[in-house]
Amino acid sequence: MKALVYGGPGKKSVMDVPKPEVENATDAVVKILHTTICGTDLHILKGDVPTCQPGTVLGHEGVGVIESLGSAVSNFKVGDHVLISCISSCGRCEYCRRSMYSHCTSGGWLLGHTIHGTQAEYVRVPHADTSMYPVPQGADEASLVMLSDILPTGFECGVLNGKVAPGGTVAIVGAGPVGLAALLTAQFYSPARIIVVDLDDGRLEMATRFGATDVVNSGRESAAEAVKRLTEGVGVDTAIEAVGIPATFGICQEIVAPGGVIANVGVHGSKVDLHLETLWMQNIAITTRLVDTQTTSMLLKTVVAKKLDPSGLITHRFTLNQMMEAYDTFARAAQTKALKVVISAG
Ligand SMILES: NC(=O)c1ccc[n+]([C@@H]2O[C@H](COP(=O)([O-])OP(=O)(O)OC[C@H]3O[C@@H](n4cnc5c(N)ncnc54)[C@H](O)[C@@H]3O)[C@@H](O)[C@H]2O)c1
Ligand SMILES: [Zn+2]
Ligand SMILES: [Zn+2]
Repeated sequence: MKALVYGGPGKKSVMDVPKPEVENATDAVVKILHTTICGTDLHILKGDVPTCQPGTVLGHEGVGVIESLGSAVSNFKVGDHVLISCISSCGRCEYCRRSMYSHCTSGGWLLGHTIHGTQAEYVRVPHADTSMYPVPQGADEASLVMLSDILPTGFECGVLNGKVAPGGTVAIVGAGPVGLAALLTAQFYSPARIIVVDLDDGRLEMATRFGATDVVNSGRESAAEAVKRLTEGVGVDTAIEAVGIPATFGICQEIVAPGGVIANVGVHGSKVDLHLETLWMQNIAITTRLVDTQTTSMLLKTVVAKKLDPSGLITHRFTLNQMMEAYDTFARAAQTKALKVVISAG
């Protein structure tokens, strides 16, 4: 079968690789119908994720149809359409029983990381019963790919950890797919104000379309001053960091109001300054989280009920044999205005 294979830092290619087979009784082999590319795949290609070995098929997001099943899988049957979670979970270990699937002792982030992923014609999904979700009747399957990773990430790491509340004030620093996923799901709670900060006017325009009450281009003005001005000098109850660099974590420390939360979502590659000398008396909390995808079935229900529409996040569509073009478009997002590119079986 054809697959996008990581070849070491800076290297990737579409190659013929063996089609996966059921290896454990709890596995499913899924024919991919739709997949996408994540900022994390670009991190891998930069060499930022050494735990991903050259030779690995990339991709941890996808919707597909079950091709074969191990003997212990009981929730699904061959031919079922399924949403694949970016996090695999056994459902039995201590972490799974605390809903911390990201730390599952035999799961976690495996796909497109430590085992072959979804940017291929077929993928083997371990712990199939507890790592996939049935596609609801009549759902737009391409849009559901947004529920494999970015929507649960924005919601769990940003909105839930950030304690977004009715009437509250929220700032989201970073308007990439994950920041925008936080923006969409923050609106479940009717905060009074959602301020989105980014350097890219195209993304800020998207943010306004998706419900931001205010946008700030931090390349043109001080984000801290702008957010203070928009909040009567107080700052925000929830500051969501959705970039992953010291500068944006710094902004969050400057804009959090007394009693507020800094909810870190970004993957940080280097250390950041922690300004305890100003924060110590502000009664704030700082949270971190690797997405658990524990809210996926709830998010699926909101999509079916049309309370959440992930389709607007899709900016480009490709077929599997255009994978290299899809990567090129996604990697040059500032020029191409790409948010999420969907790659579908040809
Ligand atoms: N915690 C988790 O489980 C988890 C899961 C998935 C992704 N992530 C991380 O979330 C982060 C966001 O992901 P994404 O796919 O949206 O990334 P992205 O790179 O597409 O988006 C980042 C955005 O930040 C903006 N930006 C960059 N520098 C900035 C600055 N100095 N000030 C303001 N804005 C700035 C960019 O213009 C861009 O729009 C990444 O670090 C990603 O690795 C975390
Ligand atoms: Zn991802
Ligand atoms: Zn587990």
